[in-house]
Amino acid sequence: MTWHDVAREDSFEEDVPKVVQVGEDRVAVFRLEDGFYAISDICTHEYALLSDGFCEDGKVECPLHQACFDIRSGKALDEPAEIDLATYPTRVEGGVVQFRL
Ligand code: FES
Repeated sequence: MTWHDVAREDSFEEDVPKVVQVGEDRVAVFRLEDGFYAISDICTHEYALLSDGFCEDGKVECPLHQACFDIRSGKALDEPAEIDLATYPTRVEGGVVQFRL
């Protein structure tokens, strides 16, 4: 498992994710009111980028069929998605947000 840099902590806007591609994994990192959270950026229903979706109240809505996921836990909250998203630990090191993959 390796820590990957995302961006400087002060460059994040709340509810606006930053996306990092690591090999075949695409990770979206969100700043919420209580910290940073990293989830898979790919919807578990079909293929859509959650970073293109609508984010509010700690949830992100898929832009394709409007499934909703909890950003903190990755839990699929609404159909048509039934599979939870992968989540990744985050930390802030020297002012830089990182996630571990
Ligand atoms: S692709 Fe995300 S809900 Fe269908």
